[in-house]
Amino acid sequence: MTHLKLPKIGLGTMQSNSDEAKEAMKSGINYGFRFIDTAQIYFNEKTVGKAILESDVPREKIILATKLWISNFSYAKVKKSTERSLKRLQMNYIDILYIHWPIKKTSKLKSTLKAMDELIEEGKIKHIAVSNFTQKLLDEALSMTENHIIANQVEMHPWLKQKELLDYLNKSKISLVAYFPLMHGRFNQVPELVSIAQKHKTSAAQVSLAWIMYKKAIPIPKSANVDHLQSNLDSTKLKLDSEDIKLIDSIKKEKRFADIPFLRPKW
Ligand SMILES: NC(=O)c1ccc[n+]([C@@H]2O[C@H](COP(=O)([O-])OP(=O)(O)OC[C@H]3O[C@@H](n4cnc5c(N)ncnc54)[C@H](OP(=O)(O)O)[C@@H]3O)[C@@H](O)[C@H]2O)c1
Repeated sequence: MTHLKLPKIGLGTMQSNSDEAKEAMKSGINYGFRFIDTAQIYFNEKTVGKAILESDVPREKIILATKLWISNFSYAKVKKSTERSLKRLQMNYIDILYIHWPIKKTSKLKSTLKAMDELIEEGKIKHIAVSNFTQKLLDEALSMTENHIIANQVEMHPWLKQKELLDYLNKSKISLVAYFPLMHGRFNQVPELVSIAQKHKTSAAQVSLAWIMYKKAIPIPKSANVDHLQSNLDSTKLKLDSEDIKLIDSIKKEKRFADIPFLRPKW
């Protein structure tokens, strides 16, 4: 297994599945996004694959991640559904294959990870990752695979700071990939982000992304708007000072947006 250093920021693609969305993704890649996030359940792997192949950037310079949907958690279905993902993406390998939501049955988790280990050996995927896992679930998964689990993709933003999980992941050399980094578009509802943005003459969106990166997590904002894509990428250059960080860290409000009863673990 090769070592993988993830970029500071990635590109989310949920709900992006039209020709316009494909053009926006291409622009995003040409501007500088190198880490692209999709999932079987987004039903847009074909569009994402096309955007990558039609961009000016060679395939091997892109880190492409997709996620196994919950109906594909078994040895045979992992293999079959990954083949289908590869076909839709028009790729011969996937860089990161996530388990999209926790697998509660131990035997199912074991057989899913066994199939993922074999996909690495077969060269069809490069790395294994999980999503929406708690520390306890992650420890269990780590004990069942021959490979390192390189990332846990979870919801993270100023109203869901994930402090304990982040400390654990940083110590374990597992990246925290932050979904909903712009609170699914609600960033302007956070007065602290708005006031810091005014101070730096930038947007609250950039402040949210810069705060996540300061915490050494990797935000994957979605945008189908070329100006937003450029601005999101530019957030890597925004330097927040210690007062800004303190202000965001002190926000008391907590809100989890993705809390789906039949999917969620015991957070
Ligand atoms: N693992 C999981 O279970 C899970 C769950 C949810 C999401 N995800 C991943 O995380 C990604 C991000 O989540 P998300 O797309 O739902 O939410 P998000 O990135 O937090 O927010 C996206 C929203 O913000 C807007 N936006 C983006 N950049 C902006 C900017 N600079 N200025 C103003 N508005 C801006 C977008 O609209 P425009 O398109 O108009 O810019 C869109 O409405 C998803 O695409 C997906 O890849 C994973």
